[in-house]
Amino acid sequence: MTTQTETIDSVLTESRVFDPPSPEAVGAPRWLIEDEATYKRMHAESIENPEAFYGSAAKELHWFRPFDKVVEFESPDAVWFKGGTTNLCYNCVDRHVAEGRGNAIGLVWEGEPTDADGAPEVVSYTYSELQAATSRFANALKARGVKPGDVVTIYMGMVPELAIACLACARLGAVHSVIFGGFASHSIVDRVKDADSSIVVTCDGAWRRGKVVPLKANVDEACAALDGAVKTIICLKRCGNEVAWEDGRDVWWHDAVENEPASCACAELDSESTAFILYTSGSTGKPKGIKHTVGGYMVHTYLTSKYVFNLIPGLDEPTRQLPNGRPLSGQVYWCTADVGWITGHSYIVYGVMANGVPTLMYEGAPDCPDCDRFWDIVERHKVTQFYTAPTAIRAFMKWGRAHCEKHDLSSLQVLGSVGEPINPEAWMWYREVIGRGVCPIVDTWWQTETGGHMLTTMPGAHKTKPGSCGVPFFGVDAAICDEDGTEIEGGGGLLCVRRPWPSMLRGIWGDRDRFIETYWQKFDVNGTVSAGKPSPYYFAGDGAQRDADGYFWIMGRVDDVINVSGHRMGTAEVESSLVAHPAVVEAAVVGIPHEIKGTGIAAFCILEPGSKPADAEAAKALKQALRAHVGEQIGAIAKPDLLRFTDALPKTRSGKIMRRLLRDIAAGNEIAGDTTTLEDRTVIDKLLADES
Ligand code: WT7
Repeated sequence: MTTQTETIDSVLTESRVFDPPSPEAVGAPRWLIEDEATYKRMHAESIENPEAFYGSAAKELHWFRPFDKVVEFESPDAVWFKGGTTNLCYNCVDRHVAEGRGNAIGLVWEGEPTDADGAPEVVSYTYSELQAATSRFANALKARGVKPGDVVTIYMGMVPELAIACLACARLGAVHSVIFGGFASHSIVDRVKDADSSIVVTCDGAWRRGKVVPLKANVDEACAALDGAVKTIICLKRCGNEVAWEDGRDVWWHDAVENEPASCACAELDSESTAFILYTSGSTGKPKGIKHTVGGYMVHTYLTSKYVFNLIPGLDEPTRQLPNGRPLSGQVYWCTADVGWITGHSYIVYGVMANGVPTLMYEGAPDCPDCDRFWDIVERHKVTQFYTAPTAIRAFMKWGRAHCEKHDLSSLQVLGSVGEPINPEAWMWYREVIGRGVCPIVDTWWQTETGGHMLTTMPGAHKTKPGSCGVPFFGVDAAICDEDGTEIEGGGGLLCVRRPWPSMLRGIWGDRDRFIETYWQKFDVNGTVSAGKPSPYYFAGDGAQRDADGYFWIMGRVDDVINVSGHRMGTAEVESSLVAHPAVVEAAVVGIPHEIKGTGIAAFCILEPGSKPADAEAAKALKQALRAHVGEQIGAIAKPDLLRFTDALPKTRSGKIMRRLLRDIAAGNEIAGDTTTLEDRTVIDKLLADES
């Protein structure tokens, strides 16, 4: 953590503070949490009496059978809303219909391609239409043998059917495993195998910057490697690209739903039944299937969406028209993430839809056809809440504010940031250029594992500080501790959570030991871990610091995980992909500062003697081949930004790669810190001298 402390020190010299604006100042109807005192009172109650706090929050949603107990916890196992039965799809869709809002719009989608006049395709769904669509698809899944608890793999582009497929699984109690459409076929193989899934839902292709990403072909390639494990592929026709077809296994989405009835009861699911798994990277080469359950995940994502984004359904503002002519009133919430990441699960689909505010999905790239696409969308749809990642903000800064100034962004009320620490410069730009110098920014710290927001501010309650993600959400008992679990007052330490929260992960799919090792063995609180027991504290994997106001400042990961463009990448995953190439014997991957991505990927490779490039030209070609190889194995986001060939890697005497030194070399920094444990100092000198 030595090198990271330097970054945080510079962040902490940041002293700008902004008061929360009045609702009128940003055009919000009101703030649900009006001031800091209200937040403090509610937070204290949520910690002192979680039964009362979360019991009443949960009752804002529908339960088929009421729960008997709010929470039970014996580390690492939590049970939330014991005895209760409910359904995520019911609460996101059917509940709104049952409450008389069937004709209100729940989901708006905009495609990437634009026609000759520059107009995009816009589709909107009312809650009644979503009820019919999710029912039809649930029936189609059922007809293909999908039962509650079965894992349905979903690998699609950002089309409305992606959300519909997730919600249809939720209707049935099937477990979805969404794989980000940017991942390559290898990643599908690993995940389908690990989850023991026999059905894949995909698209013929996905639009990305005017090109077609061949999703079905990737699935076909994966299936060939899976030896018949996949029995059914449901394929949505989106791009019209040609696809290979296997009769008996493959069926078009439109054919599958054609004769299915538009009604299908929502399964009454036990609160603790599995809602979904979502794979994320850890410090080994094998991704972890993070498991979330129905009741707790539903309540926490609902409540965080409500208070962090200030979602207020059913507002009767003057009705306006969507580009496709349908009327819309009130707020329109837009999160620019992909549903393939946890951000999309929680804050495009479940949490937001449970609140009954329309959620906007955009299919494509921010620079298609031009760099003002996002602002064009905000203006046309009158987006009120906008949630994106720092990497995107930095790209917008680079493209220049003229793209933003072309559009009327005055509908915006609340801005959100997620995925990685936001540098104060990007934060200020976001506030000034996008937020008219008045919109509050909520910087939300959380993880795939936490399911929902953990540290954040609330728009009407908290002052904000550029670069700080604020304070714990209701029910969250976060602290900065040393490895004994002793709280550190001032100064950096490990971020931990000391109590269960509703949307906490319930395990790693099929790997109990790894679950305990990764998250529940860091803090030896009262000697628990020394005694061989799981720790009562959750280890997040991040370093952080807290200031005198109790605001948290995230310093970044303390494990071998890096955050590339706000997406988590395990260095071990990239390393194992590199060594799978015949030319590479050993590889070490570290993060390097990157202007847009925040963190980029640097790879140091030792080559197989026969593969050593003869000249600079050959070296360049091999680097290109290796980048392409990683892209094919994992996906474009894993391609190294910097590749170096070397004869040796800096190691300790016990053989551990000293990544800290590689980070300095890759970033072009002075070698800082202790090098006495280094086995062979000349390795470093060579790396510094040689730029190849
Ligand atoms: C890691 C989790 C949460 C959805 C997207 C990423 C980093 C996330 C912030 C933030 C500083 C952040 C952490 C965390 N992170 N949000 N607001 N400020 N860092 O989910 O892939 O599970 O990654 O992202 O390092 O551990 P994920």
